[in-house]
Amino acid sequence: MTRGVFVTGTDTGVGKTFVACAIVHALRARGLRVAPMKPVAAGAVWRDGAWANEDTLALAGAAGAGAPSLDAITPLLLRDPMAPHIAAAREGMPIALAPLVEAHRRLASQWDFTVVEGVGGFHVPLGPSLDARDLARALGLPVVLVVGLRLGCLNHALLTAESIERAGLAFAGWIANAIDPRMSAADENVAALAGRLPAPLIGRLPFTPGADPRAAAGLLDASALAGPGA
Ligand SMILES: Nc1ncnc2c1ncn2[C@@H]1O[C@H](COP(=O)(O)OP(=O)(O)OP(=O)(O)O)[C@@H](O)[C@H]1O
Ligand SMILES: [Mg+2]
Repeated sequence: MTRGVFVTGTDTGVGKTFVACAIVHALRARGLRVAPMKPVAAGAVWRDGAWANEDTLALAGAAGAGAPSLDAITPLLLRDPMAPHIAAAREGMPIALAPLVEAHRRLASQWDFTVVEGVGGFHVPLGPSLDARDLARALGLPVVLVVGLRLGCLNHALLTAESIERAGLAFAGWIANAIDPRMSAADENVAALAGRLPAPLIGRLPFTPGADPRAAAGLLDASALAGPGA
């Protein structure tokens, strides 16, 4: 049985990579061998003689020594930092689910747990008739929702929760991530979501300049993700 989670967010830039890395650290601390994945990444930097994506590098760093290769973590790397279906069309590399599912299957067969970061928000298009939801569905993983705490997050979180349910996916939990240090009434916003989202709050992460995922790992309820036995 594949054990893993698909990490989505209320938007781009809300802390999916930060949280995914924190989840990797939290599960590793419980003795699990964890493979991170960012199946589709748009935006490449030249690093150590090859193109790589910053999220891919961060996830590989969280996985530590012996992490899967960058190509295994991100089988589809698009050069331009833009909406993936547009980058894919420009590069003449249409996004297909089958190779991504196969790449995930290979990782899942070799590791105890996979932590898969989605791309953008849950409805981000991946092609003319494909979006991030379809990727999550094809992988069949329970979804973790990162709520970037800022004005507007209630609506985005509730819409995403409805979409997770409609996609027929398990909603494993959500994480309240403080990305805006000036947000007013953050506690009330978290309470509003706790009363409405049909999944447990598995962590509340404060605004921390430099956002260190290893430190954040201790604030996550890893047993909600891995099960109490792990
Ligand atoms: N709790 C936090 N405190 C301070 N900074 C944070 C926090 N969470 C995230 N950040 C910062 O916000 C930025 C966006 O976070 P991150 O890259 O994890 O978002 P993302 O959802 O993965 O974005 P993308 O859609 O581009 O993949 C990063 O610079 C990160 O360090
Ligand atoms: Mg990211």
